[in-house]
Amino acid sequence: MSMRDLRRIALLTSGGDAPGMNAAIRAVVRTAHFNGLQVVGAIGGFEGLVNGEFRELGPRDVGNILQRGGTMLHSSRCPAFRTTDGRAAAKRNAVRKGIDALVVIGGNGSQAGAHEFATEQGVRVLGIPSTIDNDLGGTDRTIGFETACQTAVEAIDRLRDTASSHDRVFFVEVMGRDAGHIAARCALACGAEYTLVPERRQSIDDIVAALGRSSALKGSSIIIVAEGDELGGVFTIAQHVKERSPHLDTRVSVLGHLQRGGSPVVADRELASLLGNAAVERLLQGLSGGIIGSRNGNIVFTPYAQALAEKKPLSEDHLRVAGILAI
Ligand code: F6P
Repeated sequence: MSMRDLRRIALLTSGGDAPGMNAAIRAVVRTAHFNGLQVVGAIGGFEGLVNGEFRELGPRDVGNILQRGGTMLHSSRCPAFRTTDGRAAAKRNAVRKGIDALVVIGGNGSQAGAHEFATEQGVRVLGIPSTIDNDLGGTDRTIGFETACQTAVEAIDRLRDTASSHDRVFFVEVMGRDAGHIAARCALACGAEYTLVPERRQSIDDIVAALGRSSALKGSSIIIVAEGDELGGVFTIAQHVKERSPHLDTRVSVLGHLQRGGSPVVADRELASLLGNAAVERLLQGLSGGIIGSRNGNIVFTPYAQALAEKKPLSEDHLRVAGILAI
């Protein structure tokens, strides 16, 4: 696509919201304006595209959102977009609106949908990786991950205060879907005594042994459980441990959606601003059909097929070092 073919961009946020999505919206809209392009936002993610709900976005419409959590464009997981009919309706609406290219801000599932839309309907699409889970290829970090980790760490620090006051064992569930990235980061940052992640085969015996080591010395412990773990979920795990070690005073805390909200930290605002800007500039250079990410401090384009196939490995060092330091 040459610069002359690109006049109007559609923009949407899809899937679970993530802190920094607004900063990315702002960057796309203002970079587009800087380059003489128009932007139209689809309301509620792909749903807005399928149902034809749009909003024109100028530079002043995205003022005062850089620091806000959530997404001003709203978001959803859209079942209709998983069907060919739904995607065809989205294409018709895009044509009707005079849209030349689409920018999708979202995580794994949203980018997979965007890829399918691009290949099946022949639409030019670029993805900006944004999910608290950090489970998407083509980038070292996804927008929202840093803030979610910071929020979880602050919450776990509070739980640590009460755990140590009462000599209790807290089982804390963090989000991450099928990935343990939030859990591993929090484990190191919070000094967790043990951490369960979906990427590792672990057993109740392992937890009991770790607790035996730590509670004999300290009285209190924090066990972090990634929501996608394979031992049956945080309540079941806590119950099994209690059966095996009835002397322990145990409690469960599920951090849940509070990890998704809040003002983005500096690193997320920075990443969102750079990627939002780069998405528009790369579209102007004729690139589409992939993800704009950040790798080793460089902004890079990765084709969808490659980015979606990439397995982002968990940092084994985080878990290993957290274990050593928790003695
Ligand atoms: O993908 C982000 C995420 O917050 C996951 O960590 C979690 O598994 C899921 O979304 C929760 O989805 P929902 O908001 O639909 O309950």
